[in-house]
Amino acid sequence: IRRSLGTNSLVLIGLMGAGKSAVGRRLAASLNLPFTDADGEIEEAAGQTIGEIFAEHGEAYFRTGERKVIARLLENGPQVLATGGGAYMDPETQAAIKEHGISIWLKANLRVLMKRVGRRDNRPLLQVDNPETVMKKLMAERNPVYARADITVESRDVPHEIMVANIVDAL
Ligand code: S3P
Repeated sequence: IRRSLGTNSLVLIGLMGAGKSAVGRRLAASLNLPFTDADGEIEEAAGQTIGEIFAEHGEAYFRTGERKVIARLLENGPQVLATGGGAYMDPETQAAIKEHGISIWLKANLRVLMKRVGRRDNRPLLQVDNPETVMKKLMAERNPVYARADITVESRDVPHEIMVANIVDAL
């Protein structure tokens, strides 16, 4: 797999809680590729957490930064790149991923997503009274777009190693 990638990256997309970072980190280790987390790079570039960026500058500002950072990171392939849940909704980012990588949608159901995001409250979009309603709305809006990915892998409540094996099988 590594050799056939050339300078392309394996780009994980999908909703918050789909396991992009956790699975991506292990996928990278098993393929002996570097792992990059786009949200982490955005935080580093901004010197602020995602929560602080949203609170101080708003979502539109975050999205502009996200687009720039991902475009820059895609120049560093081959690697496994985990993107934030909204990144693939941006047409420019989608085109850049198509050009420089293989997109992999980690598709999870509502129960799995809510269970996983419940573990940390670092997601501004879910800092609301009823995060499940927001998640349902995001699933309805985004799943048809994520479905354009090159590869779709069901993200179930299984050990990360199994997810890695499923992704490698699908590649
Ligand atoms: C977002 C997902 C987050 C982060 C930001 C917005 C989204 O990343 O980029 O809070 O719009 O779905 P994760 O998917 O890694 O949680």
